[in-house]
Amino acid sequence: MSVTENTAMQIPPGPVDAYDMQTDAMTFDRLADWIPAYGDLIHVSPQVRKAPAFVVNHPDFIKHILVSNHANYHKGVGFERVKMLLGNGIIVSDGPFWRRQRRMVQPAFDRSVIAGMAEEINQINLRLLPKWQAQARAGEIINITAATNDLALEIVLRGIFSEDYARILAEHQGNPFAFLVDDSSRDLKLAVRFRALSKLVAEIITQRRQRTEQPRDFLGIMMSMQDKDTGAAMADKELIDEVMTLIVAGSETSATTMNWTWYALAIYPQVAERFYAEVDAGSYTDSPGFTQLAELDYTRQIVEEVLRIYPPVWLYTRKALGEDKLGAYTIPAGADIFISPYYLHRHPEFWPQPEQFDPTRFSEAAVKARHKFVHIPFSAGPRRCIGDFFAMVEAQLHFGLMGRHFKMEYQGQIPAELAPEVNLRSKHPLLMRIRER
Ligand code: HEM
Repeated sequence: MSVTENTAMQIPPGPVDAYDMQTDAMTFDRLADWIPAYGDLIHVSPQVRKAPAFVVNHPDFIKHILVSNHANYHKGVGFERVKMLLGNGIIVSDGPFWRRQRRMVQPAFDRSVIAGMAEEINQINLRLLPKWQAQARAGEIINITAATNDLALEIVLRGIFSEDYARILAEHQGNPFAFLVDDSSRDLKLAVRFRALSKLVAEIITQRRQRTEQPRDFLGIMMSMQDKDTGAAMADKELIDEVMTLIVAGSETSATTMNWTWYALAIYPQVAERFYAEVDAGSYTDSPGFTQLAELDYTRQIVEEVLRIYPPVWLYTRKALGEDKLGAYTIPAGADIFISPYYLHRHPEFWPQPEQFDPTRFSEAAVKARHKFVHIPFSAGPRRCIGDFFAMVEAQLHFGLMGRHFKMEYQGQIPAELAPEVNLRSKHPLLMRIRER
């Protein structure tokens, strides 16, 4: 056997004991031990599963998997339960069906569409403003985790349904989607309730089909798209799956980002000082317009740093379709791949003092000087998050407006405990004494 072949047969270092990785706290803890011990590519023998797993924690390898050789990778383990909720929506589908659907959904996330939604998002925040003012004046401690959950859910629902949302609320005496954020479990009962909502979405689609013109919201744009090969529009079932996908993918992720951002502002006074100076200096009166978001660049940097330290999707998975090479190592067909933004975002080779919260890591110059694939809260390549821009705009609008009015005093232990489940949430709701500035 030649030297090259011999090297290619080598297995990367890894734990001796077999273990099936999951998106859960135990895997989170194991990775904290394994990554410093075994390095940037780790082999984990399967316990019950058939194929070995590889933990990939180097930006060159990650670029290879997500971009250069993405066609060799499908979505991986851990999506079974999400699939139960989301049918065949783009977050779970693969292959030609995914490609077709992604092309049909993509125009809904065009910059011009998001720009058109900024005013609606401002209105949602402006409606929340008097409530927070009253709570501040009453000296209340608020549950910012619950508040940002409700906010992000409403924002994504209005993004999808625009004016139909008000009608849904009126007809259902409340928000029929609310249990999605109230109920943190991801069990079968939730799935059953969730699928019941698809009936509601189906009704809206039917009503909308009677209209000659569709509103410029996510649903309206998705309904007006046609397959570029066949000319067919999306069937009801496909639309329903994509709507459900957007609700699930777009609410908790954005909510936890805003949750952790308030936390960061509360516990890092120097960051807060610069943030408040920036929002106070903004040229807007009540709320920033879309074009004024460029004035909130430090705010953007804070959110990017929050996404580095607390990436909501802290672990994602792929399945290798065919054999592949990562450096000197062979990845066999069928292998499970695990990429953890949480650990990559703390890689000491790329992030000096990784545990330090420093938004200026995201100044334009600092970003340019760094490996592009070392900050991947939204993933990368063709399967990159479709809502990345929407999420950033949503956060900037919220903090640009609310930052003018409020500061939060955090009431819990520091650091707040993490709950690494499907998303990386705070283990307990974050409580804040809300004060007017
Ligand atoms: C800060 C907020 C968000 C974060 C951190 C985030 C993160 C991610 C990540 C990491 C993925 C890729 C997962 C994987 O490859 O396994 C993803 C995919 C996706 N996200 Fe987001 N997301 C956020 C907000 C949103 C929003 C607001 C929406 C929609 C309104 C959205 C819709 C989607 C969809 C549809 C996909 C699947 C894309 C595809 O596979 O083609 N996300 N997101």
